[in-house]
Amino acid sequence: MALKITVIGTGYLGATHAAAMAELGFEVLGLDVVPEKIETLQRGEVPMYEPGLRELLGKHVAGIEGSSGRLRFTTDFAEVAAFGDVHFLCVNTPQKHGEYACDMSYVDSALASLAPHLTGPALVVGKSTVPVGSADRLAAYLAEHAPAGDGAELAWNPEFLREGFAVEDTLHPDRLVVGVRSERAERLLREVYATPIEEGSPFVVTDFPTAELVKTAANSFLATKISFINAMAEVCEAAGGDVAKLAEAIGYDDRIGKKFLRAGIGFGGGCLPKDIRAFMARAGELGADQALTFLREIDSVNMRQRGRMVELTRQALGGGPFLGKRVAVLGATFKPDSDDVRDSPALNVAGQVHLQGAQVTVYDPKGMENARRLFPTLGYADSALEAVRGADVVLHLTEWREFRELDPEVLGEAAAARVILDGRNALDPALWRKAGWTYRAMGRPTA
Ligand code: UGA
Repeated sequence: MALKITVIGTGYLGATHAAAMAELGFEVLGLDVVPEKIETLQRGEVPMYEPGLRELLGKHVAGIEGSSGRLRFTTDFAEVAAFGDVHFLCVNTPQKHGEYACDMSYVDSALASLAPHLTGPALVVGKSTVPVGSADRLAAYLAEHAPAGDGAELAWNPEFLREGFAVEDTLHPDRLVVGVRSERAERLLREVYATPIEEGSPFVVTDFPTAELVKTAANSFLATKISFINAMAEVCEAAGGDVAKLAEAIGYDDRIGKKFLRAGIGFGGGCLPKDIRAFMARAGELGADQALTFLREIDSVNMRQRGRMVELTRQALGGGPFLGKRVAVLGATFKPDSDDVRDSPALNVAGQVHLQGAQVTVYDPKGMENARRLFPTLGYADSALEAVRGADVVLHLTEWREFRELDPEVLGEAAAARVILDGRNALDPALWRKAGWTYRAMGRPTA
């Protein structure tokens, strides 16, 4: 009989994972403690913008015409326990308020709600990003609280999906990593992931701490790459170099690679910033803090880029105060193809410029609603053209394709001055200059 799968927590990770499991052919029951989220998903709607996810839900959510009916949702842990052979924990682990450490309360409470209902054989699989050592602790909790005793087991299976590519990354992962303590757990997970394994996704089997660490190590490495190139951008600024050329040239060395070397206003979002901080906090608890002190520098290089963008803006406006100046901001989300504005460098820069007295107008293709909620005092426009109307300077802060396709000539007629600052090194300088714009990017003072 085919395995039955449950997914606990239907946020970004959980909603995508649930839909992907249904796509792989399993019967899936998703659970969330927020009834409104369940109601939205039951209608086949997605609470966030993620390419392809709505279509995938529509294809499988029970009750939607023409769907496979393999995907249902509930708020009831007893129902989840009775239904599933494999239970994926997909709740979030945000940064604790006022601390670097991550908040494990959602993971802990999900397991506490599930465990007492596990009366038969079950595999609970953690996917949330957690401090190393958590799986060990949670396994002990499960052993103590599940009536099934040894029949209820834990495994750890970190998730590497990127926002904007969540569906693709879940259905065709570049690797699968599982921390297991028994052959049975490994066998079950091989069964769950049989399709991607057949397609060639490497399947890495390891212990709990290594599986947990793989996730935080991967995100730390990515953050390090970005801050490395941003540090080079700072040196290029000082020395009159061109960081984009530099990145291209070092990227030809395939030990270095081209990816994640785009200099600009740095990384944000719900993962990289909080993950490197939680990793430092955890290393400290383990007495290995020295090993990760470099991440403090990665974090500060990153945060510094936001301030540098504000300074570039000030210079572009003549160097004086921002008071009375009009600033157009293109982009609000932390990256393109997402509506996520959590710790968004773009909104941070927009907010700083606004707080210093400028009149800021923001436009983003998908992030307007979330941005408005977070920063209600900024001005918002319905299009790039409207945002730019009357602006003394234009800031390009999230590299949406829509912005690369803008016509500099048309925008130039609307703007008060033809000055554009590219905070993502993603626009074509030649194109903008041809239309009479002063183009300036980070780390390329002369380019
Ligand atoms: C990140 C990881 O890339 C995923 O592998 C991981 O699964 C995920 O976190 C997670 O932990 O859940 P994501 O947060 O979606 O994914 O975003 P990224 O694509 O990593 O981008 C992060 C930030 O770095 C964005 O603000 C982006 O604009 C910035 N970035 C990226 C740069 O500034 N330069 C680059 O060259 C690349």
